[in-house]
Amino acid sequence: MPGLLLGDEAPNFEADTTQGRIRFHDFLGDSLCVPAWGRKVGGGWGILFSHPRDFTPVCTTELGRAAKLASEFSKRNVKMIALSIDSVPDHLAWSKDINAYNGDQPVEKLPFPIIADKNRELAVKLGMLDPDERDKDGMPLTARVVFIFGPDKKLKLSILYPATTGRNFDEILRVVDSLQLTAYKKVATPVDWKSGDSVMVVPTLPDEEAKKLFPKGVFTKDLPSGKKYLRYTPQPE
Ligand code: BEZ
Repeated sequence: MPGLLLGDEAPNFEADTTQGRIRFHDFLGDSLCVPAWGRKVGGGWGILFSHPRDFTPVCTTELGRAAKLASEFSKRNVKMIALSIDSVPDHLAWSKDINAYNGDQPVEKLPFPIIADKNRELAVKLGMLDPDERDKDGMPLTARVVFIFGPDKKLKLSILYPATTGRNFDEILRVVDSLQLTAYKKVATPVDWKSGDSVMVVPTLPDEEAKKLFPKGVFTKDLPSGKKYLRYTPQPE
């Protein structure tokens, strides 16, 4: 069955993009960075986000927002790449509209490449098609998929929206912060967490070890069950 599950390795596909031909693993690369929460991490992260079609309204607003947030992704060492089922010349012409929508010069360049997938081969392979949204020829369009790959090139997060619902790219940055923090520290992030808020100690970590690992303190909330599983600690460095 096509598609990607959490933990799957990113397929090392080749594709034409607005910035030339790429091989996906080479594109992801393996540089070093200091993410928002301050500690140096190894390896490159990557985000692949798909779009139903060029020159469509919701997609234009999404790519505009993604372009505005490019420096935030870059700070977190996350390489961005988009996919839409049209050709490179279409993507380049559409990029002018996206820049104009942002109030910028209507140039063909965006801060990330867009993959051309005219025959939907990649969209099929990655399980990205939305069966409910079709083009004028009755062919399915791509859904709004977000795949985030870790430095080991494995899938760490997958979000799937239908073509008719635009994504929230601030939320995507928020989950990148959580993914990067929880990849290196024995913590999990609670509901509505944002970088800088307290985090939860993972349930598998014994209290004694938690005290040593989190010198800023571990704070337990009393609950009617008497179980001490709600353990908070300030976000670790
Ligand atoms: C859009 O990007 O606006 C869109 C694309 C396909 C279906 C519905 C909306």
